[in-house]
Amino acid sequence: MCGIIGYVGHRPATPVVMEGLRRLEYRGYDSAGVAWMTPGKINIARASGKLRALEEKLSRMPAITSTCAMGHTRWATHGEPAERNAHPHLSNDSSLAVVHNGIIENYRELKKFLLEKGHQFYSDTDTEVLVHLIAERRKTEPDLLRAFAAALSEAKGAYAVCLLSADHPDTVYAARMSAPLIVGLGTGENFIASDIPAFLPYTREVMFLEDGEIVRATASSCEAMSLRDLKPLPKEKHTIQWNLQDAQKDGYKHFMLKEIFEQPRVIKDGMTGRADGETGDVKIPELDNAPIPGRIHIVACGTSYHAGLWGKALIENLADIPAEAEIASEFRYKNKFLRDPGEVALFISQSGETADTLAALRIMKQRGVPTIGVCNVVGSSIAREADYTIFTQAGPEISVASTKAMTSQMICLALMALYWGKRKRTLERNRIRETLDILFSLPAALDDNLPEMRKRANELAKKYAAFRNFFYLGRGVGYPLALEGALKLKELSYIHAEGYAAGEMKHGPIALIDPEFPTFAMAFQDDLLEKVKSNIEEVVSRGGKVIVLSNGAPAAKAADAWLIPPVDGAFAAFMALPALQLFSYEVADYLGKDVDQPRNLAKSVTVE
Ligand code: F6R
Repeated sequence: MCGIIGYVGHRPATPVVMEGLRRLEYRGYDSAGVAWMTPGKINIARASGKLRALEEKLSRMPAITSTCAMGHTRWATHGEPAERNAHPHLSNDSSLAVVHNGIIENYRELKKFLLEKGHQFYSDTDTEVLVHLIAERRKTEPDLLRAFAAALSEAKGAYAVCLLSADHPDTVYAARMSAPLIVGLGTGENFIASDIPAFLPYTREVMFLEDGEIVRATASSCEAMSLRDLKPLPKEKHTIQWNLQDAQKDGYKHFMLKEIFEQPRVIKDGMTGRADGETGDVKIPELDNAPIPGRIHIVACGTSYHAGLWGKALIENLADIPAEAEIASEFRYKNKFLRDPGEVALFISQSGETADTLAALRIMKQRGVPTIGVCNVVGSSIAREADYTIFTQAGPEISVASTKAMTSQMICLALMALYWGKRKRTLERNRIRETLDILFSLPAALDDNLPEMRKRANELAKKYAAFRNFFYLGRGVGYPLALEGALKLKELSYIHAEGYAAGEMKHGPIALIDPEFPTFAMAFQDDLLEKVKSNIEEVVSRGGKVIVLSNGAPAAKAADAWLIPPVDGAFAAFMALPALQLFSYEVADYLGKDVDQPRNLAKSVTVE
């Protein structure tokens, strides 16, 4: 939800900022803008649409030599995606500029107050109030830092904000409240950005900002202070372990394709240090001090929720712990929570910043429920705020549509189920070893089969891309996959797709079936196979075309069978998921859609 970057140092700043924005574009791509300092003046350039439009605009301008600049790539919340709503926004005398990620919830009241004070507004955004408010506070508080802090203390909502001032041409100011902001500490240069890849070519030394913190950065210094009283804060420096290579396409046409093909490595990394195939042992030291749940709420959004729904069955079956998978935006507004003794809440989030998941986490913490975070992004809010955090080790996921993150979350959930089963002594060592054997076999099986899967996905994509509606059906382990398959297809190709529990079809939805409404069915070799076969027959006999994804003998008189390698039980999901991802990828690519940046979406949903 919007990406921001600020730079001050010894290099020409706008290329650094533009390169950073390119790496942040996954966060939003409705418009983009930059601001840069020249003596006594702030200059801005903005363009509607993707970063390319801004690049073209800048290429027509004289070379910019400024060494202090900031930029923004927008996911529109307030105000349509038009140039006038693009950031940066300027104060009326053009002496201040801000870029902002988040939502200022009380912007209407603030705007009314500022209009009465004579400020003129040029956009429909909530953000513009911030720059006018700082300008207003500066009338009585000449110290910019104090005026900035005073203005922010009046703003309600979420913000990661960068500020430039014509009076301080070599300084970037920034602050954070409920939106990610990270400082990159270089030599003779400093960076402030929404995410680490923005500055990774220049430094791996970072400082994570917390809510309620403000920073003042120059080329040679970076001070973090409390927004409340501007007292300096001792901040820890962290070194980022992954490198830029991990955030590049590596010759793949799209990040999504690269990330699908990374899944064997992601499975291996997720198990390294946690699972020992020889001894049949599972260790998750991050959970050693956490209580064994008597009951668990798994809370997440979107694809992460589908991982949670899959993991729920495993936790119930392997660890014998009652589990609920809950959509964070619903869960956070439940009035009554079951107050079972031993209740634990587990929050799954790739980004670690999803607003609803984070809010649900905070509510559970307030209620004294132990919280566990399963996150990919180190330093993210959920990772820092959960009582216990497990990192999924997927590496940076750049494609807006999540792929490898789900696989990594499923690996973590499977290991957690085994780990709790071991601690509760409900699982025999042999059963753990057998399960680990299956998990250890996955990377090689996937490596061997991904190219063939892609070929089949491509054939089927050409045949089915013209349809406007799809059902995705599954039972048991196949149900979360049906939901995920449908989500991937709709978000990437804009084809309407519904994930359904196969057994529910006859309770209404089957009325939709005709030759123009195909079905994608999950038919795995498990106890529910015969039931699924019947459901497929019901669709076929009503003229519906069916793709049957199965890991054994063809499941039914299907229009199109798609055979994936046999893997036992719930773990068939690790083979089926990449197949579903590849089908959606190939359909979207065949239709010429923007695979890595689908319309209306953003990678990290930091607004409610
Ligand atoms: C879909 C997708 C989203 C995310 C959801 C949660 O491809 O990526 O549905 O899964 O926005 O995001 P995280 O996991 O970052 O909380």
